[in-house]
This record gives sequence, structure tokens and C-alpha cells, in this order.
Amino acid sequence: MTKQVGILTSGGDAPGLNAAIRGVGKAGYETYDMHMIGFRNGFRGLMQDRTMPLPSEALSNILTLGGTILGTSRDKPHRMPIAGKTQDMTDAIVEVYHKHQLDVLVCLGGRGTQRNALRLADKGLNIVTLPKTIDNDIPLTDTTFGFDTALEIATDAIDRLHSTATSHNRIIVVEIMGHRAGWLALGAGIAGGADVILIPEIPYDAQAIADAIRARTRKGKLFSIVAVAEGALSQDEAADFEKARAEKDAATNKEEKNAARAKLIELDKHHVDNTVRLTHQLEDLTGLESRLTILGHLQRGGTPSGADRLLATRLGTVAADLINEQRYGVMVAARGLGAAPVPLAEVAANRKTVPLDHEWVTSARRMGVSFGDA
Ligand code: F6P
Repeated sequence: MTKQVGILTSGGDAPGLNAAIRGVGKAGYETYDMHMIGFRNGFRGLMQDRTMPLPSEALSNILTLGGTILGTSRDKPHRMPIAGKTQDMTDAIVEVYHKHQLDVLVCLGGRGTQRNALRLADKGLNIVTLPKTIDNDIPLTDTTFGFDTALEIATDAIDRLHSTATSHNRIIVVEIMGHRAGWLALGAGIAGGADVILIPEIPYDAQAIADAIRARTRKGKLFSIVAVAEGALSQDEAADFEKARAEKDAATNKEEKNAARAKLIELDKHHVDNTVRLTHQLEDLTGLESRLTILGHLQRGGTPSGADRLLATRLGTVAADLINEQRYGVMVAARGLGAAPVPLAEVAANRKTVPLDHEWVTSARRMGVSFGDA
């Protein structure tokens, strides 16, 4: 019997999403007896029953497109803002799933999406997910689609910043996305030859960065490139966050929990301008002119790289295989040249951050790159 397959994309867009939709869809139509229905704008569109027909013709000419043809949103089934109120819309979503007589819902997204998909699986829906994010912070998968393209864009940016930094003998600070993980800044920092790389996993001391830059000046290297992950924290900030998190964990009543939550929100708000403050600090501490470039959403835009198209396509086709075998409640993880289903519950419970002894960190340190920690 024909299987009804619903597909949605959720969370921030990332290059490779359309390649993944195409991979699931083409394998579903060409190899199996499946029918695809798209839902627009993530879990919100699913809740609103906003469908987009996905016949096999709709899957042509989308492989190279950036973004997502389905649209996306950051809405969560259990906390959806509706008419000024946050509501749990999980039951409404379950109803739409059954209305369309879906055999499975395929959710393409990052960490938030994996957690939301698990909530739906816990409600009895058949779910298969794919790991999408430029942040590369999803556990149990070697990598995620979107990461390679963003890495290329950030590396290219660092390459370009080198010539202007050299010409002016300046410090150029470049802020790179990655949420609370340092993969993107670390990878692009190494690939682009940054002199200082700051990642959330290694809290920094501005004085140590300035010392490293001055040491370069003494060797006749009059410019420096500082690659900063958006989530990078000074040692003081990291201590403040740790304290607020510990207070939240230790809270014994609602008031204490809310107060700790409010503190964390305040700290997050203050963190937004962190790279601006660091750039000024480095200028003051080194006496070198300093400039800041924030790459922002540029890193998520445009054509996916060949590697991301390949990864998204092969993970997408494996999703179709799993649906055919009725293996649900799993994410399709990249494993070497292959792929493997991993339990959603395990994926949703963790974040993959950069281990301090990761070989990228070790090899950068061996080359004299400063992480601002000593
Ligand atoms: O998760 C992908 C990501 O691009 C992060 O790197 C970044 O912190 C976040 O999304 C930005 O979110 P938004 O697009 O909602 O501003």
C-alpha cells in the first residue's frame, strides 16, 4: 500500500535542505511506493494544516537551491505563540497528522527540531529526522548538512579579510555563527589561517589575546585575524553563566527558578554585543587599530556546496529506506561514508560541542594559534 509521507523543515534554514527533501522524495517515488506531502513553515504550518503538494515534478530543479522550498520557522509544538499567548498545540498537530493519514512525518532540522520531533514521537507519531544545521552541534552524527557550505563561506571571508588586515596593519575580528558550539569558527579559523580562534568551549582572557597579538608584532607580523564564535565567552562571562545555571538547577521553588531564568536571559542579552566590546578592548590593549566584521546570516545563504548536496541526498535516501522498513523514532546520522539510524531520544538529550582535546584544537595549538586562554 502507498505510504503517506509528510515532510517539514524547521529551525534556521541551512544550505542542503532542498537537496535532502529531494533525496527523500525521489527515493520515495522512484524506489518505493510512497506519496509525499510537504508542510509549510515548520511545526506552525503543520499545526495550521498548511500543505504544499510534493509530486515528483516538484522535486526537479531544487538540488542547487539554498533555503527551503517548504519555508521554515522556529515554532515549537508545545510552546507556540498564538494571538499573544503561548499555547501547547501538540494535540492539534497530532490531529493534522491523522487527518492526512500519514504513515510517517520526516522532520529536517537542527537540535531544537530534534527535540520537538521527539515530543511528537512520544505522542505516538511515526517520526524520522535528518540532521541539518550550519552549527554541526547535533550529537551522534559525524556532521550535519549546511556545515560544509557555511565553513566555505566563513573561510572565504577570512581569506578576503587577510589582504585588508595586512594592508592596514590592523587587527580584524571576524564573528562567525555556530550558536553555543565552536565548530564553525574553529574549522573556518584553521582553514583561513586565523591567528586567534575563540570558541565557547574555551573561555578567553582579553589580556592573553592581546599578549599573543603583541608577540606576533614583535616577530614582524603587523596584522592579526581573530576568528570569534558568536557563542565565545570571556572567562568572567563564562563564570557568570555557570553561576546562573547552577542557581537555576538548585532552585527549589517557582520564584527562584524564574529569577535564575531572568538572570540567564539578561546575560544572553548582554552577550549579543560581546564581539564589539572585545574589538574595542583589543584596540586599547594592543594599541593596534581594530575592526570588526560580523558574517551573520550570509553564512546560511545561497547555493549548497557539493559536499552538502551529497550528504543531504544520501541521508535523505536512507530516510526513505528506513520508512520502507518502518523504522521510526530515529534520526539518520552520517557515519563515515555511510549512514545509520540513531534513537531520537539520545540525539535530543545532548549538544555536540568541541572536545578540548579535539584534533582540530590540538593542531591549531601546535601551529601557535592562540585560543585566548593562556
Ligand atoms: O542554528 C543556526 C544558526 O544560524 C546559529 O548559528 C545562529 O545562532 C542562529 O541560527 C541564528 O538564528 P536566527 O536565524 O533565528 O537569527
